[in-house]
Amino acid sequence: ISLKPYNTFGIDAVAKHFTSVSSISDLKTVLTLENHPNKLILGGGSNLLLTKDYDGLALHVNLKGIEIISEDENTAIVKAQAGENWHEFVIWCLKHDFGGLENLSLIPGNVGTTPIQNIGAYGIEIKDTFESCEAINLESLQFESFTKEDCNFGYRNSTFKQENKGKYIITSVCFKLSKKNHTLNINYGTIANELENNGITNPTIQDISKAVIAIRQSKLPDPKEIGNSGSFFKNPVISKLEFNELLKNFPNAPSYPISDNEVKVPAGWLIEKTGFKGKQFGNYGVHKKQALVLVNYGGAKGSDIFNLSKLIQKTVKRLFDISIEAEVNIL
Ligand code: EPU
Repeated sequence: ISLKPYNTFGIDAVAKHFTSVSSISDLKTVLTLENHPNKLILGGGSNLLLTKDYDGLALHVNLKGIEIISEDENTAIVKAQAGENWHEFVIWCLKHDFGGLENLSLIPGNVGTTPIQNIGAYGIEIKDTFESCEAINLESLQFESFTKEDCNFGYRNSTFKQENKGKYIITSVCFKLSKKNHTLNINYGTIANELENNGITNPTIQDISKAVIAIRQSKLPDPKEIGNSGSFFKNPVISKLEFNELLKNFPNAPSYPISDNEVKVPAGWLIEKTGFKGKQFGNYGVHKKQALVLVNYGGAKGSDIFNLSKLIQKTVKRLFDISIEAEVNIL
């Protein structure tokens, strides 16, 4: 079957076999099918570039459900099943006036894949509210629970991208959210401006969510209209020494401090300087408003987008001597 509806890039790659599971028992049954040794686990498909057809079983994790598993006066622990749409889950939390996820509004994808790359935006990462997750060990088929420490979260990184890559299917995630005295994060980028422009001086978590949605809509393409996978690359972390070298030629280069001797440079800026921003090559290209995002205008092949990403990496390396790494999983 075509995997086009299952990846936000909208790549029309084909899987030899396909199944969607909506219960744990079905999931376990599918995992024991001995005639399907190779499996491609699909969540929301928002961080995946398919460069070829898949000669195995594509397994769509469609587990649903949101529940409050415990709460006290100040906090609630909320558990969401892996197949819940991320943004709908964030909206559910805001309806209950649970704080902590509002800056992560409108991120495409499903709950179950958010810990894998520790999704982040506008000054917040999933690790800030992550309590635990449950996952099936693909070898033993037993459930295991992961605490925040077990996950070893880093910038767009976790144990599920490192030592435990490909070894688990995350089935549910628990978040610890505030019920009152919410911590508001409005310092990143243009959130404060956006609130001010709307005359909001005392923002609620719902106001912040609306501001984030407006900012994202103004620069990121909606995958329903233009296929894309959000940031294609990670922002590179370089030493201050290297950054000072960069400043000699580009005195206006932006950066975010990481540690005493490291900074993060926006890959979008590096790519814009190479001239790739907004470039269209037939039915694919680099987004006009955010150079970090590669787009499929319809009918593009994953391999074309992959080749473009290689060319961008090479060009950035040549111009700045900085390596930028793909954030998206390439298959
Ligand atoms: N910039 C440019 N040109 C561009 C894009 C960015 O010059 O085309 C420069 C500007 O100086 C801008 C700065 O980069 O001020 C930062 O841009 P932005 O706030 O859009 O953030 P980003 O670093 O490009 C990261 C995340 C996004 C996340 C935003 C907001 C990564 C790889 N990307 O992008 O995440 O939404 O911050 O927090 O860290 C995603 O992961 O899919 C994603 C969209």
